[in-house]
Amino acid sequence: MRAEIVVLAGDGIGPEVTQSAVTVLRAIAESHAHQFVFHEHLIGGAAIDAEGAPLSETTLAACQRADAVLLGAVGGPKWSDPRAKVRPEQGLLALRKGMGLYANLRPVVPHPVALGASPIKSHLLAGVDMIVVRELTGGIYFGDKTRTADAASDLCTYTVTEIERVIRRACKLAQKRRGHVVSVDKANVLETSRLWREVASRIAAEEFPEIKLEHQLVDSMAMHLISKPREYDVIVTENMFGDILTDEAAMLAGSLGLLPSASLGEGTVGLYEPIHGSAPDIAGRGIANPYAAMLSAAMLLRHSLRLENEARVIERAVSDALYAGELPADLSDGKPALGTRDITANIVERIANCCCSQVAELRD
Ligand code: NAD
Ligand code: IPM
Ligand code: MN
Repeated sequence: MRAEIVVLAGDGIGPEVTQSAVTVLRAIAESHAHQFVFHEHLIGGAAIDAEGAPLSETTLAACQRADAVLLGAVGGPKWSDPRAKVRPEQGLLALRKGMGLYANLRPVVPHPVALGASPIKSHLLAGVDMIVVRELTGGIYFGDKTRTADAASDLCTYTVTEIERVIRRACKLAQKRRGHVVSVDKANVLETSRLWREVASRIAAEEFPEIKLEHQLVDSMAMHLISKPREYDVIVTENMFGDILTDEAAMLAGSLGLLPSASLGEGTVGLYEPIHGSAPDIAGRGIANPYAAMLSAAMLLRHSLRLENEARVIERAVSDALYAGELPADLSDGKPALGTRDITANIVERIANCCCSQVAELRD
């Protein structure tokens, strides 16, 4: 198949891990006879410096036209002055909004080899397999903001429609999994959460009677996420709670550098990015963990291009590499680690070998 993919490398380690993901996609294209055309554009701090804005109209239009968008990360100390009017993160938010990507899927499946890197006891982690569906284009991120010399405010708003569509997405995912959805809110305090809870209950009861829906308050969820992570299947929550809970959930998997994400709207076009940021503390050293970016590329193949088999080839290669001890510094527990480029070269080789052996199997 032919696909047009926009690549937004961004800032910090963004270009390093995105380069890895693109290299892996090229290896898939070659081994499976696809044609992926990559269009590179700027976003975030790099776009502020070169174009004066964190997301130009041209870049947004290119993303809207593409089959899928692959993103690294945005932000960094250079653009972090709290008084700055223009910030890299605004580009990412405008992109999510501009593409209508209201559902952010963040799977958390700890790899056995990475358990040692997790601060959580291993016996709590075996068998953990959850997916967090984070609402991505509403809530406090997008409400009106005010600022005076001695006060500031951020408005948190949700409409019924915004809640309905993301709850439906979570329930549909649960249908193909273990049929269990936990909706996370703060309904004991927030009006938006009381609306969220009401709508979630109605949609589940009316449209998904076979799904078991439970509600949980976000503060206790933060605790249960690490005390009994095995009990969760699909978690659905509003924008900011989802942001915070998924960085916490990354610790179940051992590192932020292992968690991919897919942001989806109504069609198949999606935005794929690791959940981690631009990691300014390690940027430019060639040691960033590229696995989350590669796994995001796998999600791109699955959700936007409907290439399930090819997605699994990447996931299998990453899993095999971890089993083989091909670990970046964030997972190596102080022992000698592989750099971003070496890890990528090994994955490319695994993809090539895997496909050769599949062809050989077919021949036999
Ligand atoms: P971060 O996720 O960039 O880094 C947190 C810690 O995790 C750091 O110690 C970092 O070195 C480590 N880490 C993250 N990804 C890693 C990887 N792939 N390999 C190895 N180690 C990794 O969070 P932060 O430091 O709070 O934020 C830095 C900047 O990134 C901020 O400007 C923030 O706004 C931005 N950010 C962007 C995105 C995005 O573009 N999607 C996401 C989160 C944060
Ligand atoms: C993420 C990031 C972003 C968010 C920032 C950079 C705007 O933390 O993708 O998780 O808060 O959504
Ligand atoms: Mn985040």
